[in-house]
Amino acid sequence: MSVGEVIIRRMRPEDVPVVHEIDMLSFSLPWPERSFHFEVSENAVSRCWVAEAAVNGETRIIAMLILWLLVDEAHIATVAVHPDFRRCGIGSRIIVKALEAARAEGARRAFLEVRERNVAAQEMYRKFDFEITGRRPHYYRDTGEDAILMTLEGLQVGGLEGLKVERHVMYDESDT
Ligand SMILES: CC(C)(COP(=O)(O)OP(=O)(O)OC[C@H]1O[C@@H](n2cnc3c(N)ncnc32)[C@H](O)[C@@H]1OP(=O)(O)O)[C@@H](O)C(=O)NCCC(=O)NCCS
Repeated sequence: MSVGEVIIRRMRPEDVPVVHEIDMLSFSLPWPERSFHFEVSENAVSRCWVAEAAVNGETRIIAMLILWLLVDEAHIATVAVHPDFRRCGIGSRIIVKALEAARAEGARRAFLEVRERNVAAQEMYRKFDFEITGRRPHYYRDTGEDAILMTLEGLQVGGLEGLKVERHVMYDESDT
């Protein structure tokens, strides 16, 4: 599959059906589609992002992220990359974009919950200097897994320095 330039931009209401598909392909407990509509159209604290790329000549959404900005805290509520496009740096790119934007809006720290067996995501967050700061026992009702709470402090003082996304140089950066 040939992927062209990847653009990270804010999610629009018309993106929701594809975003929901990526969610269903990525999680055992996907959100209902109406939750994405609420996040993108109604939730004032929500910052919703997508990654869009030309795939075999056709523009497609291939990743999504939702962040809640609560005063000076950025909570990554969900993030997923379409299975066909993982391990190409797109997850890192969309996280960097969302956290940089949150930082510009005053976020001082970021946090998230991740399943204890989700090694891929934990590895990614660790690369960004997120640290394990807590655990919620039996948080996920389908498997009974614990949620691991991860936190990135010091966003305002260069907390994104650990983000080595430049290694994925095949894509151009773009703002929308
Ligand atoms: C987690 C997820 C978003 C990562 O997206 P991605 O685009 O594949 O991630 P990247 O290519 O930017 O990878 C960044 C780093 O994460 C780690 N990583 C990613 N996938 C990994 C895997 N399968 N196994 C181990 N480490 C992995 C690696 O350290 C990687 O860096 P490297 O490629 O230089 O080794 C993606 O796997 C996904 O959508 N998973 C399903 C949904 C999910 O679990 N979301 C997170 C919920 S908290």
